[in-house]
Amino acid sequence: MPKIVIMPSILAADMGRLAEECQRAEAAGADALHLDIMDGHFVPNLSMGPDVVKMARAAVKIPLDTHLMVTHPQNMTAAFIKAGANPLLIHVEAQCDVRAVLHDIRKHKLRAGLTLNPETPVEALFPYLADVDEVLFMSVHPGYGGQAFIPQVLPKVAELRRRAPELDISIDGGINRATTIQAAEHGANLFVAGTYLFGAADMQAEIAHMRAAIQNAYGKKV
Ligand code: DX5
Ligand code: ZN
Repeated sequence: MPKIVIMPSILAADMGRLAEECQRAEAAGADALHLDIMDGHFVPNLSMGPDVVKMARAAVKIPLDTHLMVTHPQNMTAAFIKAGANPLLIHVEAQCDVRAVLHDIRKHKLRAGLTLNPETPVEALFPYLADVDEVLFMSVHPGYGGQAFIPQVLPKVAELRRRAPELDISIDGGINRATTIQAAEHGANLFVAGTYLFGAADMQAEIAHMRAAIQNAYGKKV
């Protein structure tokens, strides 16, 4: 199976002590941090910008999986690359030349990722599979943490897994103990979790629990 990657989403961290929260996640065994970037247009909310990525880059050594929920990613990639984002993910629904932006990200020696909203059919990804290092399925409507997992996304994950056995497939939104297992069964190997991990009494124990559960469940419903 492809490598398991567990990524706490700092959207759910204590914003008053963000550097310490990044370090707490790294010390708890996180493989990467997930950073949600919102522009108030592609999604109704605003969150963080390149300076937060820069802060996280200085605070931890693990990769910063940076999720651009923005309408015009082509105008913003340079600032996030400079700040230390990597991987850098854009949405297939963004208003841009998706392939050109993915190529630009890769040209800068970053991992490029493509993200899909819950309503978007999985076929929208197929033209870009050669251009991406990871695909991220949104399992909530993007814009806010703490929402309930949308199970209708699971067949899309399984379909992509059948097509691409080695691809890094990520799931983002509403991940908890139970939905981790469902997503792993359908072939996800990268897991973003905000509320669940930052809200856990013992993040280290919870990440270890997730890792074991994913190992056990992976691919059973592919
Ligand atoms: C939602 C973001 C998610 C969010 C997940 O727009 O893309 O990464 O942080 O939060 P939880 O895990 O709380 O659903
Ligand atoms: Zn995200």
